[in-house]
Amino acid sequence: MVKIIVKLKSKSYPILIESGLIYDPKAWPLYDSDRVMLVTNTSIASLYLNKLIKSFNLANINVDTIILPDGEQYKSLSILNRIFTLLIKKSYGRDAILIAFGGGVIGDLVGFAAASYQRGIRFIQVPTTLLAQVDAAIGGKTAVNHKLGKNMIGAFHQPISVIVDLNCLHTLSKRQFYSGLAEIIKYGIILDGDFFNWLENNLDLLLTLDLKALMYCVPYCCQLKSNIVTHDEYDQNSRVLLNLGHTYGHAIESYTNYLSWLHGEAISVGMMMAARTSYYLGYLKKEDMDRIQTLLLRAHLPIVGPKDMSPSDYLSYMIHDKKVISNDKKLRLVLPLSIGNADVFSNIENKVILSAIEDSNSDSVTI
Ligand SMILES: NC(=O)c1ccc[n+]([C@@H]2O[C@H](COP(=O)([O-])OP(=O)(O)OC[C@H]3O[C@@H](n4cnc5c(N)ncnc54)[C@H](O)[C@@H]3O)[C@@H](O)[C@H]2O)c1
Ligand SMILES: [Zn+2]
Repeated sequence: MVKIIVKLKSKSYPILIESGLIYDPKAWPLYDSDRVMLVTNTSIASLYLNKLIKSFNLANINVDTIILPDGEQYKSLSILNRIFTLLIKKSYGRDAILIAFGGGVIGDLVGFAAASYQRGIRFIQVPTTLLAQVDAAIGGKTAVNHKLGKNMIGAFHQPISVIVDLNCLHTLSKRQFYSGLAEIIKYGIILDGDFFNWLENNLDLLLTLDLKALMYCVPYCCQLKSNIVTHDEYDQNSRVLLNLGHTYGHAIESYTNYLSWLHGEAISVGMMMAARTSYYLGYLKKEDMDRIQTLLLRAHLPIVGPKDMSPSDYLSYMIHDKKVISNDKKLRLVLPLSIGNADVFSNIENKVILSAIEDSNSDSVTI
């Protein structure tokens, strides 16, 4: 088992990574509470819940469960209220622990339930998608969506532990797995050229869910994310680098109403657009842009956005993104400068941004 500590000023917590970990009661920090509520969704429950509850029972751990419908549209205030109602009906107090057992949707929702129930109770993240294992479950960002905007209501609330079971990836759809790979490739581009090289050399193994490759890659990404969170818990400076490709990607997700594009797919296109913008500005070398494109394509990720979405459509969504600097309304974009190095820019002319979008969508033939 690999253990990574997320070090924070107020408190630190472990990320435990291993295959089969969820069925090991020793991995769960539940012994000092007899009020434990596990929240999951119907899809994950049907795959894992019976066996999990059996293993808790064998260890004399009592757990209540809430099984929610599956989907981003349920990351909502009304579902949150459903969780609160049950907690109150069952007289859960401040010593209670919530378990978020699922992908980023469950993690964000349950995290926010824990942040706000009785002014904050403990929770454990048990991410079951690749995206949540390497990204969403770490760092304490919790939220639900509002009709008028994604993740608009939320809080920073750190889990007491993150339990990553690599076996869960075996039931994940290929498309969801590829989507998680986009965030992994992102870490290489913004932070670590050696890791990007490693991905170039080991992507085929990752795609077969090779355990040795996963046992290197997932903890490595957790460590990278953890380092960023340690330095910038409240997203005020360096954590913004994690938004590489996201301003463009959010535009695609909003334009398509969060229905047809997965998050990783949208940010894959966005990372290519950011790379091209940087190349046009003379920062990123052509060969580095091509390496990024090749790796994304090998990971079965798209590099071209929705057919009917024009460059000005992107721009109009992008300027409503919450990462826009508010005083002069200039877009704040993360751009890769080389493989392993990125920076934030807020002075890029719209015409450069627009032509990079246009050319990414029409001229993705650099390899
Ligand atoms: N808090 C953060 O820092 C952060 C970071 C990135 C993304 N997010 C949020 O995460 C969400 C996206 O998360 P996601 O990509 O994990 O999507 P998700 O939670 O919707 O999961 C994707 C699909 O996979 C299914 N699934 C999950 N685990 C499975 C498994 N082991 N086997 C089979 N099916 C499984 C789910 O039921 C769902 O249908 C978004 O709401 C996004 O805003 C949060
Ligand atoms: Zn993301």
